[in-house]
Amino acid sequence: MKILVVGQGGREHTLVWKLAQSPLVEKIYCAPGNAGIAQISESIPMPDQFTDLADWAESQGIALTVVGPEAPLADGIVDVFRERGLKAFGPDKQAARLEASKDFAKQLMLENGIPTAEHQTFTDVEDAMAYIEDHNAPVFVKADGLAAGKGVIPGRTFKEALQAVKTILVDKAFGEAGDSVVIEEELIGEEASFTVLTDGTYCLPFLSSQDHKMSHDADTGKNTGGMGAYSPAPVITPELHDYVMESVVYPTIKGMADIGSPFKGVLYVGLMITEAGPKVLEFNCRFGDPEAQVLLPRLKSDLVPLLFACIDGTLEQHTDVQWSDEAAACVVMASGGYPAPYETDIVITGLEDANAIEGVTVFHAGTKQKGENIVTDGGRVLGVTALAGGLHDAIQQAYKGVSAIHFENAHARHDIGHRALGR
Ligand code: AMP
Ligand code: GLY
Repeated sequence: MKILVVGQGGREHTLVWKLAQSPLVEKIYCAPGNAGIAQISESIPMPDQFTDLADWAESQGIALTVVGPEAPLADGIVDVFRERGLKAFGPDKQAARLEASKDFAKQLMLENGIPTAEHQTFTDVEDAMAYIEDHNAPVFVKADGLAAGKGVIPGRTFKEALQAVKTILVDKAFGEAGDSVVIEEELIGEEASFTVLTDGTYCLPFLSSQDHKMSHDADTGKNTGGMGAYSPAPVITPELHDYVMESVVYPTIKGMADIGSPFKGVLYVGLMITEAGPKVLEFNCRFGDPEAQVLLPRLKSDLVPLLFACIDGTLEQHTDVQWSDEAAACVVMASGGYPAPYETDIVITGLEDANAIEGVTVFHAGTKQKGENIVTDGGRVLGVTALAGGLHDAIQQAYKGVSAIHFENAHARHDIGHRALGR
């Protein structure tokens, strides 16, 4: 069969890489892809209108479309494909609200008794400021809508919290996404990512993983899309796993079905493991990036039948999913300056040398082909990923890969996996 993948980052390179291993797949297209994706699939331009992409998919006989990022899901790409009778993997527009509106997600959690930080939502600046005066810092101030992972501002002091409210509601730093603001209490603990596939009723958990959101070592610097990840994350013990499935994942999926908005696709739960137990920081309606880079290589089973089962409502029949015992680590190499503005078009060398290192696969995020060269084309440039017998070795191999690759002003964290190794 022919498959279309939508997106252009490290997550999508990993999806294309995994899908290409399926004996069911004859050809993969990616819209728009990147330089790494283009080595294992055919890139096509991403049209402005989803209807144009659906026309193209229909004319090419695409059997399955897999949508990587949240923005097209929130904009209803799956609805457009479904109206044509085309199979597209991911939640529809209504269900994608779980990520696209933090206020919607908070309401759903409140109504279904799902543990999360206390919060209130505001559209009025004065009301938001009065709330901060009553509640004291630290608080977290969040744009309600999608803001490319940048819409959360910590208000560590009273002044910072007020400034964050102004940035979002008045200065409109995140545009319409900041028409309302969610203010919540600070949760203290260790973070973990919990990912499941779901057909709207049944949920198939992936292995645990952990991301590193801050730009610099020891979790300093600025919040980014993610500077590295590893799997498994030992903070998710078997007991916590069961608790999260019973008290977070299933109530969320049931809650969505109960309001007539069944959620099909990937549910990503960002958790804070507090002293009082796990609490939800956020939901995402797609694989994490870079969590996908460490989760998909550990899946031994064919991904294609699982994605169809999510669409068709038959996921419960897949009880035989096989996972690798190996651990995985991914170190992101970013453009110097990221997440602040950075230069692009810088030549990257050493990719083949890195890929030749035992256990290492380099997933491209922000790259493009320019003549003979592969050059940088985004903030996060590469996800250097390694599988090995244990986490320590996986991390070591991934860093060997990083050492083999060069581009001017490349920046990577040196401490990916430190929490797991410190245990
Ligand atoms: P979010 O996009 O909501 O996950 O927020 C991005 C990051 O901000 C999270 O990964 C946490 O590191 C941090 N964060 C968000 N909300 C809270 C909270 N209530 N308490 C502590 N940290 C938070
Ligand atoms: N790595 C966090 C995310 O994908 O949202």
